[in-house]
Amino acid sequence: MKVMAIVLAAGQGKRMKSKLYKVLHQVAGKPMVGHVLNTVKEAASERTVVIVGHGAEAVQAYLGDQAEYVLQEQQLGTGHAVRQAEGLLGSEEGTTIVVCGDTPLVRAETIRAMIELHSSTGAAATVLTASFDNPTGYGRVIRGTDGAVERIVEQKDCSPEEAAVKEINTGTYCFDNKKLFAALAEVKSDNAQGEYYLTDVIGIFRRAGESVQAYCTNDLAEAIGVNDRVALAEAEGYMRERINRKHLIEGVTLIDAASTYIEADVRIGSDTIIYPGTVLRGETVIGEDCVIGPNADISDSTVGNGATVKYSVVDKSEIGNESAVGPYANLRPGSKLGVGCKIGDFVELKNASLGDGSKVSHLSYVGDAKVGKDVNIGCGAITVNYDGYNKFVTEIGDNAFVGSNVNLIAPVKLGDGAYVVAGSTITHDVPSGDLAIARERQVNKSGYADKIRARAKAKKENAKKG
Ligand code: UD1
Ligand code: CA
Repeated sequence: MKVMAIVLAAGQGKRMKSKLYKVLHQVAGKPMVGHVLNTVKEAASERTVVIVGHGAEAVQAYLGDQAEYVLQEQQLGTGHAVRQAEGLLGSEEGTTIVVCGDTPLVRAETIRAMIELHSSTGAAATVLTASFDNPTGYGRVIRGTDGAVERIVEQKDCSPEEAAVKEINTGTYCFDNKKLFAALAEVKSDNAQGEYYLTDVIGIFRRAGESVQAYCTNDLAEAIGVNDRVALAEAEGYMRERINRKHLIEGVTLIDAASTYIEADVRIGSDTIIYPGTVLRGETVIGEDCVIGPNADISDSTVGNGATVKYSVVDKSEIGNESAVGPYANLRPGSKLGVGCKIGDFVELKNASLGDGSKVSHLSYVGDAKVGKDVNIGCGAITVNYDGYNKFVTEIGDNAFVGSNVNLIAPVKLGDGAYVVAGSTITHDVPSGDLAIARERQVNKSGYADKIRARAKAKKENAKKG
């Protein structure tokens, strides 16, 4: 049987009090609608239609060609929203999953189990429900004396008895596609909010003698509909736990899971140990046997096997196997370390590649540079890559040695094995094997230290006298 999906993402989300459209708010570093789309695709959907309205362009720009889109010009309710997909899906035979773009924690395995219940019972609709101690704000699932689902009543339309019901509608459903669109044509807006409710379809089916099933989840996180920042924070917490648990099961050690923040798409190899205060973002891939943190903030970067990153920031960079970064290093975009490199404290790299075994151990800036293998860049040495208008490249050959506090005024090139003595300001290329020295010769003035002190002291005393 063909499985399709409709994702509702047209609402503005007033209760978020935000300039950002609701479904683009992130949970674990990924917009909520992105989580939902991944989930329905993983569950089974062969055709996915996203209903867009507020922020339509932004939502489409984010999701791209992963889905088909329909514009809901006016947000007249969830039933009205689903109806917009009729032009695209109306003639299809099969099962249609409907999910709200603000329920980021619904799981693919749950949707698969719902589909199974749905098709084995031949139901017109199957609703994903959950039991909440505090069901306020959600639609209530009203069952008949025989236990069968009769209808769903929205919070604002509930009688006191209905409001006391703890079983809620999570907003995720399976429908017989043809029956869904037929029933939607009958939905009216005569309710407290004056909206066309998708939930009314349930009562319409039952009155027509159709079967409606409920699939009740025990994982309450799945049921969270994010309408405000309180729920967003809750969803973030649940998602973090879920992600951390997945990594733990796959063989990653988290010293303190509660203070480890791993975004949804990050991958980590087994036997890697993550210390507290670590934030791993975006498309980051960490290898096996690494030690990450304490306090590492790594975004969209690749870290090889056996590498260490302590108290450092790494953004859009690559760290080779067995390399060590930190403490207190800043790898800005385009930094690329080979195998066994060392980047030490207070070193900043930007758009700079280092060959295998090269070291920048302390207090350096290396920007717009191509550094060969087994190069040593001494304490305080820097590339001078910017004249206020243009950026210039520094090239350093294999086995070169750059002494402490050297300024390399780019564009400049040091050949293989070149040796630059400490304190030099290098403005010309240094050929392979040469030694460069570019600093003033030292002069010692005998006994002059005492003379200069006496002079300074006298000046201070004169000033005091007036
Ligand atoms: C909805 C359900 C409620 C359920 C809850 C679960 C209805 C009438 N109510 O309520 O039973 O307990 O979800 O979280 O369905 N949307 C549109 N177009 C519209 C209106 C909404 O695309 O015209 C989208 C929103 O962007 C959102 C989703 O539909 O992603 C749900 O809408 P929302 O207003 O959040 O519904 P709830 O009041 O939470
Ligand atoms: Ca909602």
